[in-house]
Amino acid sequence: MRAVVLVGGFGTRLRPLTTDLPKQMLPILDRPMIEHVVEHLAAHGVDEVVLSLGFLPDAFLDAYPDGRCADIPLTYAVEPEPLDTAGAIRFAADEAGIDETFLVLNGDVLTDLAVDELVAFHRASGAEGTVSLTPVDDPSRYGVVPTDADGRVTGFVEKPPAGEAPCNWINAGTYVLEPSVLDRIEPGRRVSVEREVFPAMADAGTLFGFRSEAYWVDTGTPETYLGVQLDLLDGVRGPARSGVDDAADIQPGATVRRSVIGPGVVVAGGARICDAVVMAGSRIGEGAVVESSLVGCNASIGPDAQVIGLSVVGHGAVVADGERLDGDRRPTGSRRPG
Ligand code: GDD
Ligand code: MG
Repeated sequence: MRAVVLVGGFGTRLRPLTTDLPKQMLPILDRPMIEHVVEHLAAHGVDEVVLSLGFLPDAFLDAYPDGRCADIPLTYAVEPEPLDTAGAIRFAADEAGIDETFLVLNGDVLTDLAVDELVAFHRASGAEGTVSLTPVDDPSRYGVVPTDADGRVTGFVEKPPAGEAPCNWINAGTYVLEPSVLDRIEPGRRVSVEREVFPAMADAGTLFGFRSEAYWVDTGTPETYLGVQLDLLDGVRGPARSGVDDAADIQPGATVRRSVIGPGVVVAGGARICDAVVMAGSRIGEGAVVESSLVGCNASIGPDAQVIGLSVVGHGAVVADGERLDGDRRPTGSRRPG
């Protein structure tokens, strides 16, 4: 089976880390997020992935120049302009010549979903499309998807106001679609699968939902991007992993606790890093504190500076000696639209 993986969004909520790097090329522990996604698909029998690209496509083309990732072939569909989720699916399917049952994934989701069970459910129900569903505490950030006893979707409400969601089962971002769904998407314009296509299919009674309680995280916010990595360190998903790269230089007197430290990072003596991600090549000065925060590649945190409270420091950014960032972003501005 082939899978279209959507990776063309602006990653707005993770700026400035995503100003110049697509969200799915950010590392999760030691590898870009997209590799975790493709590996999971390959393990479930997917034999080709079509990457649906829009924003910053070169980052992917440069990283996988021979068109292989996790040992399966990757093809690329680069939109001339962002077409939104359904427009992107139609464009990628047309480019790849898809005319059979196929998978679609939001490329920023990390999950242990049993994709084979999802496909089997789809085939057994005779659905035109099947959406994987996961339960969450706050459905208002997601597409909310009520179903009847057979799993038929009875409505699809994207990001309802807080307190108005009809249930707490949400669109988990993995779909099995019949090619007829493509005919529902007008080519060449922005179309949202969540706001247009799925609600119409729910009305027509051809959309089904597959409930799964497998591990699931949408990594699109600083909190979830950090959390998914702390889960790997904590052993929440499989055996606990080490987050400190062999090629990091943790100097005597530095403290590193429950954190991901990339290759080439230098942590000076007296610095303290806790519940944080520090990406490749960054320098953490003497006595500095980095806590519950994200630091991009080649950043510099000056001596005695504090980066705490879910702060986000961009690639190459500088935090001055003794400066304090608490829930702040550095730099704050953005050079990109979206
Ligand atoms: N190619 C392309 N073109 N990809 C896009 C575009 C586009 O114009 N817009 C967004 N994407 C990609 C993003 O890169 C991401 O992988 C995926 O589509 C979903 O976009 P997000 O921006 O992450 O959406 P969301 O997290 O707010 O909501 C979506 O995901 C939730 C679950 O994680 C929706 O599908 C919700 O219904 C769902 O609950
Ligand atoms: Mg998302």
